[in-house]
Amino acid sequence: MTAHATVRGDVAVLVPAAGMGVRLGPGGPKALRLLGGEPLLVHAVRRLALAPSVGCIVVAAPADAVADVVALLASVAPVTVVAGGATRQASVAAALAAVPADFEIVLVHDAARALTPPELVESVAAAVRGGHGAVIPVLPVVDTIKRVSDSGSVVETVDRSVLRAVQTPQGFRRDVLVKAHEAAVDEHTDDAGMAERIGIPVHTVPGAEAALKITRPFDLAVAELLL
Ligand code: C5P
Repeated sequence: MTAHATVRGDVAVLVPAAGMGVRLGPGGPKALRLLGGEPLLVHAVRRLALAPSVGCIVVAAPADAVADVVALLASVAPVTVVAGGATRQASVAAALAAVPADFEIVLVHDAARALTPPELVESVAAAVRGGHGAVIPVLPVVDTIKRVSDSGSVVETVDRSVLRAVQTPQGFRRDVLVKAHEAAVDEHTDDAGMAERIGIPVHTVPGAEAALKITRPFDLAVAELLL
């Protein structure tokens, strides 16, 4: 997968990639850390561009690395690069503002989920196209989950059969995502959370193990093995 891909569909994808990746240890912005010799962002964008639905990719880069990211992605896929913000939410808002008016479906995809298969992008896009205003990919929770107190004592065991771990890309009708961001007064860790807050039903589709979020050094080691 080294060829320059073309983008050709009706879906715009926003890629927040402006985080510092503190939990990954020292070494600069997370999206620019290497996986198999290439930055996470390159892996992520390459896979997005291979999804036939994707017609526009907007990356929110660290403000001091916009020119570097433009150069980095020039041989990967046609992308627009904007300066990200102080929070993930601000970075998504900045990218959303740069989407051309004719895209009615917008996906939001963390650069940290660098190995997300194009098939997952297609499945989220198809669910939005099929009429859902907000769509998230989810996986069942495999660990037993407990609620604990500040002192570390177990308060209760949560019924994991009703829980799901949430991935990206998350897909939205454009008007839903715009409204959700306009209405957001506090910080959310994902965009579907903002849609929930304004009463939009959020539909789930099956996620993919390969779409793991690369957050800690262990995740990077797992991703190296998957490559
Ligand atoms: O910090 P976290 O792992 O939740 O970040 C998720 C995604 O949001 C990453 O791809 C990161 O680069 C991005 N992000 C961003 N702007 C920020 C913080 C995080 O684009 N200010």
